[in-house]
Amino acid sequence: MSYIKIEAITKSYHDRRSAPRKNSDKSNEIRVLDNINLEFKEGEMVCILGPSGCGKSTLLRMIAGFDSPTSGQVTIHDKAVTGPSDNNIFVFQHSGLLPWMTVWDNVILGVRHLPEEEKNERAQEYIDIVDLSGFEHHYPHQLSGGMLRRAELARAVAVQPEMLIMDEPFSGLDFLTHMKIREELVNMHEFLGQSMLIVTHDIDDALIMGDRIIVLSSRPSQVKLERTLSFDRPRDLSKIPELSELRDELYFMLGVSYAV
Ligand SMILES: Nc1ncnc2c1ncn2[C@@H]1O[C@H](COP(=O)(O)OP(=O)(O)OP(=O)(O)O)[C@@H](O)[C@H]1O
Ligand SMILES: [Mg+2]
Repeated sequence: MSYIKIEAITKSYHDRRSAPRKNSDKSNEIRVLDNINLEFKEGEMVCILGPSGCGKSTLLRMIAGFDSPTSGQVTIHDKAVTGPSDNNIFVFQHSGLLPWMTVWDNVILGVRHLPEEEKNERAQEYIDIVDLSGFEHHYPHQLSGGMLRRAELARAVAVQPEMLIMDEPFSGLDFLTHMKIREELVNMHEFLGQSMLIVTHDIDDALIMGDRIIVLSSRPSQVKLERTLSFDRPRDLSKIPELSELRDELYFMLGVSYAV
């Protein structure tokens, strides 16, 4: 059964520099998404790739209920999405931490409904996982870009939500933290079976993590490729010929003539 259904979604924005003369005037309309149809199964980890500006963040925001489509609809468990829900946690492309709260308070916020002891244990567990022990009482402006990212991930995964929606979760992370958090997300997915929707620019991330890969075309964006990856994890790309071939195909599709 499908958990999320995206049916015939289109999204257009107006270029505010020149207001339309009439409501019917579409000359300054920017069409971002063009008839997107997708379905996600419960517990699936889906990675979305596509060129910059094609509408990946826009699509995630509509699934999370922060934005609405111009036409078409998004349903979760057969109910139309009309706003954000507690069951979904969104990791923003840019920091979504509350600047007036410490790392500890930001993480606690998501699990505030838990009993005191469990709440504190959960917050500490995830702060430790992202290697921020010792920085619990720092405010976001006192952290580096990579630390901000890690704090944000701790906040999101500590909630153990039904679905994690992540917009470039690894951007700004150093190589080792990137690997570590990617591994942690894969483990979490194996053990907790959460649905995860991840936008990434990193083709290897998508190949290593995804149950399915979706590639969007440039704007106005359509689904260019959908591929199911039924390989056990952890995956060593160099030892799975199908994934190495798909890697080359994806690089080519995204405009790079040879894979590095
Ligand atoms: N609120 C908005 N008002 C007007 N235009 C917008 C708005 N949000 C996004 N856009 C436009 O929609 C298009 C898609 O933006 P979006 O942020 O979804 O792209 P993206 O695929 O996530 O890009 P990137 O990979 O660079 O993050 C862009 O042309 C952007 O300028
Ligand atoms: Mg984006």
